[in-house]
Order: sequence, then C-alpha cells, then structure tokens
Amino acid sequence: MYLEKLMLQNFRNYTSLNMHLNKNVNIIYGNNAQGKTNLLESIYVLGLTKSHLSQLDNHLIQTGKEFCKLKAIVKKDKIKTKYEIDYTLEQKSLKIDNQEIKKITDYINNSLNIIIFYPEDLEIIKGSPNNRRNFLNLELSQLSNNYLKLLNEFNKLLKIRNEYLKKMSKNEQYDKTYFQIITNYFVDKSLIIYKMRKKFVEKLNENCGKIFFEITKINDFHLQYVPNFIEDDNNFKEKMLEKLNKNLNKEIKFGSTLYGPHRDELEFFLGDKNLKIYGSQGQKRLAILATKLSEIDIFKQFKGTSPILLLDDVFSELDDIKKNNIIKYLSSDIQVIITTTELKKINKKKFSSVSVFKIKNGEIVKTEEVEKNERKSL
Ligand SMILES: Nc1ncnc2c1ncn2[C@@H]1O[C@H](COP(=O)(O)OP(=O)(O)OP(=O)(O)O)[C@@H](O)[C@H]1O
Ligand SMILES: [Mg+2]
Repeated sequence: MYLEKLMLQNFRNYTSLNMHLNKNVNIIYGNNAQGKTNLLESIYVLGLTKSHLSQLDNHLIQTGKEFCKLKAIVKKDKIKTKYEIDYTLEQKSLKIDNQEIKKITDYINNSLNIIIFYPEDLEIIKGSPNNRRNFLNLELSQLSNNYLKLLNEFNKLLKIRNEYLKKMSKNEQYDKTYFQIITNYFVDKSLIIYKMRKKFVEKLNENCGKIFFEITKINDFHLQYVPNFIEDDNNFKEKMLEKLNKNLNKEIKFGSTLYGPHRDELEFFLGDKNLKIYGSQGQKRLAILATKLSEIDIFKQFKGTSPILLLDDVFSELDDIKKNNIIKYLSSDIQVIITTTELKKINKKKFSSVSVFKIKNGEIVKTEEVEKNERKSL
C-alpha cells in the first residue's frame, strides 16, 4: 500500500496542500517550525483518526479557522481508495470512497496502515509503563480488527469492577453475584489481550534483533513481555480467578483492580541490560526504531500489504555510520516518508527512487525527483 496523493485544507499551518508522493522514498526537508511534523501528523490522522501528538482534535484546525479537511488517495494492489476526514470545531466525519463511516473501528480496520517513528517515541522506553502499553495497544489495533473492540470492552469491565471495589471499601451495599459475573468476564477478556500481546511481542522478536544489528553491529537486542499476573499459560483462567479471590481484601483496600493487562509491562534488553535503566539516549532511540521497523514484516503478514512508514527526525542525534545503515535498510520495497532539517546528511543516491520536497511555512516550495540515479529537476 502507498499514499499517492495527500490534500489538506486548514490543517495546522497548511492552508492548502496538494501533494503527489513517490511510492518509494519521500524526503521532506525544511527549517524548524515549517510544517514537516504537521505533514506526517496529517497522514497519521488519516490512518488512525486521531493525532499521536495532540489529545484535542481542535488543535488540528488552523488557528482562526472553523474547519479542516484531510484527503488521501491510497493505492493497494492497483486499486485506489479515497479517505477523507473533515473536522469542524464540534465534530468529525470519516469517509471512505465518499461513503460516510460512522464507527471509528470500521474506519480504522479499512484504512491506511501506518508505522510511525517520532522523537517522542523515546518515552516508550524512558516513560511510564502506560507508554509501553499504549504502544502495544496502538499497534495491535491496526494489526487486528478485533483488538480495539476487545480493549474497549475490557476497559468498561475494569471501570465497573473498580466501582464495585470502591463501594466495598466504603462498606456500601453491592450485588455479589453481579460482581462475580463482571470478574469472570474481566478474566476472559484479560486472557485474550494477554494472548494477543504475547504473540505480537514474539513476532517483534523474530526481526528486531537482526535489524538492530544491521544498524549498530551490536548483537542481542530483544524485547520481553511481562504480564503482571501470571507465570505460565496453563490454566490461565483458574489461576487468575484464584489470584483475584486471594487478593480481594487488598483490592478492596485500594479500591481498584490490582491484576490484569492494565498493569502489563514491556521491557527492552540489550544482552542482559535493561535499556530503560542502562541504555544511552542513542541506544534507546535505535531500540525503538528497530522495534518499529520490525513491524513492517508483521504488517505484511497480518494485513497482506506493506505499511506506510513515517519517520520524523529519525537521523537526529545519530552518528553518520548509523545514519547510513538506516538509509541502507530503507532502500526496500515500501513507501517511506522521512523528515529532516539537513538534506545534505542524506545520501539520495542510495535510494532507487526518491522524491524530495522542500517545505516552507506550510507550503511545498521545491520538488525534485530522483529515479534510479537518473536525476531530473522539476
Ligand atoms: N493549529 C495550528 N494552526 C496554525 N499553525 C499551527 C497549528 N498548529 C501548529 N502550528 C504551527 O505549525 C508550525 C510547524 O510545526 P511543525 O511541528 O510541523 O514544524 P517542523 O517543521 O516539524 O519543525 P522542527 O524541525 O522544529 O521539528 C509551527 O510554527 C506551529 O506553530
Ligand atoms: Mg518536527
């Protein structure tokens, strides 16, 4: 799958943009604060209906305007699909091929598959466990049509269960049978989430070590999924119910559910060193990058198509050898959109087909295409 055309109106600092993209490599360059990140954000929003940078949709609308429009033409197996998202200050509407889509899950299940790497991703390793669970949730929501629905159901059950535990802690009246039913469903959903996360991390581990080595020449990078409530897979349901029963008084004391996938962890290791504790800034960045790049094959396998890779400022803080190794790795068969402030640090000749766009103040001011080392300026 690749993005053929992107059109924006009143999106952040883009008043009007109409862009044809290369199906291989696209380099977006320009000074700080010109709109490089905004451009990638618009593609991400078209895929996932929400920004990775802003909680509030209204931030996406250009200051002083009342609406914004995003449109993408995506090509997959020679078939073109049109995606449109319109925001007003009150609501958003989603369309695929001019058909209004009411449910966000229906849109996401049929939309652009996106892998994004951006500077704030460092928080996946450095930040709280919540960052790491969000990473798992986001990727799995794109990979599986059921995951987002499952996660919503799980969160509802967790909320109800916590409300019951709070009632118990205040010695208020509650329906015991209903609490048991909720706990039972909660465990069922936990089991499915656990299985999907476990499989996903296993799949990441099939490739991420190899990719990390190709970039850094250092062996033995891997991830570890650490579910907080079990030691082994056998009799999961019985064991988890037993654990919840045994610890009910503790849960009542805290007024919340202490065991389950909402407390899972994901750890990043180089050999036996946990990168969260021992990793340098560069190692952490490369660990996340290798993890994200290893998703390319997983997307191909699970979605039957290659994803669109968005790399925001991937080269900053990395030495030249690593930059070159990343470029070597990217010369593959998928669409990549990279932003940078320093064009000269990227050797364009390494790519077989590349388009270069200069961005200034929310506009493309220069476009250049380089095809198979045969250069032609437009
Ligand atoms: N809703 C909005 N309306 C108008 N302008 C906006 C809006 N949101 C952000 N901007 C502006 O968009 C500009 C570009 O932001 P962006 O993050 O894309 O820059 P960038 O090119 O990635 O810069 P850097 O190299 O520093 O990362 C900023 O000047 C910002 O103030
Ligand atoms: Mg930026």
